[in-house]
Parts: sequence; structure tokens; C-alpha cells
Amino acid sequence: MANKMRETDRSMDRVHRILDHPLFLGELDAIDEAERDRIYCGHNLTHLLDVARIAWILNLERGLGLAKDLVYGTALLHDLGRAAEYSQGIPHDRASVELARIILPQVGYEPEEVETIKRAILGHRGHEPGPEGEDPLAGLLFEADKKSRACFACPAWESCKWPEEKKNTTIDF
Ligand SMILES: [Fe+2]
Ligand SMILES: [Fe+2]
Repeated sequence: MANKMRETDRSMDRVHRILDHPLFLGELDAIDEAERDRIYCGHNLTHLLDVARIAWILNLERGLGLAKDLVYGTALLHDLGRAAEYSQGIPHDRASVELARIILPQVGYEPEEVETIKRAILGHRGHEPGPEGEDPLAGLLFEADKKSRACFACPAWESCKWPEEKKNTTIDF
């Protein structure tokens, strides 16, 4: 049992290193600062973890077999470029990809994994989930990101730019 626990812990080592990475922490602080008065959906650590956990649940429910640290690493980085969007006008998917390109190899992700994660992040704003198997990680990220928003309880519902048909009227996962 003890050995198994250690194995499980090790499988998330790379994710823990993302959470401790100075670039990750610095960008999160910048996002928090930029969104201090924002009434719409935020992009803080809570959102990143919500997306990670929903994506992981969907992965388990559907038996997709993706590695946990691949799913969590993708979700944690998918909106990290949001501060650069606020300060420099860089679309945040592209800014997040650039941050992922720097952070992921430093915390131990292999080049092929880095490319897979970058592709999912780059697609998270416009990628409609296709058939699973085509690019399961990209599909999961897109879906979990949208499902993470509690529109049904949002005080900014009226002025939110999301079209009515895309707003989440209930928890559906
Ligand atoms: Fe985003
Ligand atoms: Fe997001």
C-alpha cells in the first residue's frame, strides 16, 4: 500500500513542478491582479483546477486512457497567457502556448507530450470537439473549459458575451 501511494504521488510530480514554477506563479499573480474587478469569468488557479478536474472526470468516464499529468498539465497552462492578453493584446491561446513551450520541458515533459499539449491549448477557444480519438486531449480541454462555467448562477449573465445557447443552464457532466 505504501509503495502504491508513492507511485501515485510520483505520477503527479511534473504537475507539482508546474505549480511551483516561478513563471507559472508570476503569471497567475498577474492574472489575479488584472481580473481584480472583472465581473465575468475569471482565469485564476480555481478555474485552471476546475478544468483539470472536469477533464480528468470525463477522461475516466469515457475510458480515454489519457495520463493524469498530461490532462492536468494541459488544463493548468491553458489560460496562463491571459495576463499577456490583457497587457499586450496577445491572444491568450497563443500566449499560453508560448508559456507552455518554456515551462513544460523544464518540469520534465517529453518533446512529444509538449507538442500534444500545445496543440490542445491552441485549439481551446475554437475547437469543436470532434470524434474522440481524433485529438482526445484537445476535445477534452475544450469541453471541460466550457463546462467549468456556472452560468446558471452568474450575476453577469445578462451582459456576458457568450450566446444564450452556449451558456450552461445546469451542471451537465
Ligand atoms: Fe481560454
Ligand atoms: Fe479557460
